[in-house]
Amino acid sequence: DKLAIGIDIGGTKIAAGVVDEDGLILARVRRDTPTTDAAEVLDAITEIATELRADHLVRSIGIGAAGFIDASQSTVLFSPHLAWRNEPLRDRVSRRTGLPVLVDNDANASGWAEWRFGAAQNEPDVVAITLGTGIGGALVIDGQPYRGGHGIAGEFGHMQVEPDGRPCECGNRGCWEQYASGRVLSRRAAAEVGGGSPLGRRLVELAVGEGLAPHQVDGTHVTRLARAGDATAREWIAEVGQWLGVGIANLAAALDPGIFVIGGGVSDADDLLLLPARAAYSAALTGRGYRAEARVVKAHLGADAGLVGAADMARITARRRRPAH
Ligand code: BGC
Ligand code: NA
Ligand code: ZN
Repeated sequence: DKLAIGIDIGGTKIAAGVVDEDGLILARVRRDTPTTDAAEVLDAITEIATELRADHLVRSIGIGAAGFIDASQSTVLFSPHLAWRNEPLRDRVSRRTGLPVLVDNDANASGWAEWRFGAAQNEPDVVAITLGTGIGGALVIDGQPYRGGHGIAGEFGHMQVEPDGRPCECGNRGCWEQYASGRVLSRRAAAEVGGGSPLGRRLVELAVGEGLAPHQVDGTHVTRLARAGDATAREWIAEVGQWLGVGIANLAAALDPGIFVIGGGVSDADDLLLLPARAAYSAALTGRGYRAEARVVKAHLGADAGLVGAADMARITARRRRPAH
């Protein structure tokens, strides 16, 4: 009963692995997410599970999916970035693999992993924010994961921060994730590449150096240039950090957690992101100077958080359901 497969299905990448009860990853698989066809995602999941089971005896599968999961944790109701609409993912994967399957939101899975094994251990009130393609969120309230009345709590990325702002994949405008996610950096990078600027050329060099095509330049390349000292790349990340800080201040007004954990790809920028975020947070926080300020820390588990958390939830749930002999 010790091993589970965790599969993190993000807006661009699927990361999967076999995970043990201490959250250690024994084997892994990565691939791009098929974004236009739900059936292809299902095929990818099935293939990944088969591959990982070849060398490991696993008892359950946990899936963290970038979308809104219903309260019974079986159906992806809606996904802004992917093709799922009312997709009965749990039963489909379970039927294909013959294993018990647990489905949760990708950011919930990451937050769970940080709470169990990472930056939020022993914290009763946590807000975890995952900056990936979009912004995902997870909540722990009074030592319990909080999913809301219909399973969808924590969709912080779709809070409106700019009336009539940028269109969002969810169908609304001005959503927070249009200002403070990896997609912002990708969008800016793409514009530089298209404009043929020196910065655009350096971004293309990095992508090509990784065996990618020029149009595959994304936020990770911006972060690499920023870390190497590029002033413009640093400015873009600082701006994302400022939007992040404003959103965190709003969440503090609503929820007053003890800690904010910031994960996802964009958090690889470390202090280039977190210092401007903390500054904007402190400046925007209501009642500042007269209240305790929650810590804002980087997540510990990096890109593995989602798969580790999904596997852990699946393992715990499967163990609970199995009758004792
Ligand atoms: C989706 C969330 C998801 C997040 C991160 C958002 O756009 O609405 O469900 O957790 O992106 O992938
Ligand atoms: Na969530
Ligand atoms: Zn939105």
